[in-house]
Amino acid sequence: MIQKPKGTYDLMPEETRKYRALENQLIKLLEIYGYGEIRTPIFEYSQVFHRESELSDMVLKETYNFKDKGNRDLTLRPEGTAGVIRSYVEQKLYADGGITKLYYLGPNFRYERPQKGRYRQFYQFGIEAIGAKSPSLDAEVIGLSYKIISSLGLKQVVVKINTLGDIESRLNYNKILRDYFIPHKEDLCENCQTRIDVNPMRILDCKIDGEKPVVKKAPKPMHHLTAEASKYFSDVLKYLDAMDVIYEIDDALVRGLDYYGHTVFEIEANIKGFGAQNILGGGGHYEKLVSEFGGPDVSGVGIAFGMERLMQAIEAENVEMPKDKPFDFYVLYFDEATKLAALTILSELRDLGYKGDIDHLDRKFATQLKSALKNNPNYLIIIGEEELNSNLYTLKNVKTEEQKTVDFDELVKKLGKKR
Ligand code: HAM
Repeated sequence: MIQKPKGTYDLMPEETRKYRALENQLIKLLEIYGYGEIRTPIFEYSQVFHRESELSDMVLKETYNFKDKGNRDLTLRPEGTAGVIRSYVEQKLYADGGITKLYYLGPNFRYERPQKGRYRQFYQFGIEAIGAKSPSLDAEVIGLSYKIISSLGLKQVVVKINTLGDIESRLNYNKILRDYFIPHKEDLCENCQTRIDVNPMRILDCKIDGEKPVVKKAPKPMHHLTAEASKYFSDVLKYLDAMDVIYEIDDALVRGLDYYGHTVFEIEANIKGFGAQNILGGGGHYEKLVSEFGGPDVSGVGIAFGMERLMQAIEAENVEMPKDKPFDFYVLYFDEATKLAALTILSELRDLGYKGDIDHLDRKFATQLKSALKNNPNYLIIIGEEELNSNLYTLKNVKTEEQKTVDFDELVKKLGKKR
């Protein structure tokens, strides 16, 4: 038997239905905020993700890279932002000088060690607001993230925010971090030892060293901000308060990608027994990404939620999800002649929008009945010899067991509201 690749999963209709309901709920909310959906390719030229400035483990070690038959280097997208920005620049969405608000939903691929909440193919739901360096826009995206979790009814989930400061603050902070880590070099893993020189901030979220006391005690970006960056962050907080957003400041939050500056944030589930992968979503402000792709010197801000983790949180908090609508009817027949009539009424009722089905296996009446009842239909429509000759139908209400012979109009009336 051929099995699915490691780190992937199949979704059965009952679960897929819940995801679809969740997606619809999210989309509805986003439209209120003025976001439009963007769909970009699942694979891009490798340089979209493998940029000089991006030295995160995720991009350096976890991407699925391949060559096509034309010897082009391609990468399955590991995240949504880079592809969206590539498209924003390629399509010149900046031309009107305003803010472009986009959302996206789709699969991403990372070669990670699979565990609960961590897959090699996973779905992200993300948003990007591009075109301005604006503390109120950062606050709006954080506020929207808060709205997403609160409107889903998630109570044990918090919004954590921090600032990495502007470029000058980060240059200064990197120097301070380097000076701090040099005497502790021997306590760090091999990768982090090279990171001291190249990208010391990545030590803070290293999967091996991240929890070591020496890393936990490292200086924090928030305490090394320029006056301008500090004002930017206090403005973000001011706007968040004006929007009644509930958040926590976490000075240790740095995020795992290199394109962030100023505001960063994560949505964390603190649900008992949830597991280690409790970050439902993460995002932040990026200053240089648009210009790196050849666009104007404008910032963007965004966040992406992991759909699987969001669904796990919904289930862990027992949030009620809309259930599938029951079958309005099932048609039962006895032989080829009554099957023809059954197919006709099935098709007519479906055209009217009623949900119904039939047993295609030509099984005995009792077997058809048993299998129909498994699907919990509201009504059974029985077509026997008598009904065939009279153009009438036997309609049985499954719950009350009331049975009546009816014509088509009455049948439709009894089935009730159309979908
Ligand atoms: P990220 O933190 O790498 O950020 O991923 C965002 C979310 O995707 C995570 O919080 C998590 O819920 C989910 N996720 C990531 N990796 C996996 C995995 N292997 N299995 C399951 N879920 C996963 C980004 O991707 C940025 N593009 C977010 C962003 C948007 N920043 C600005 N705009």
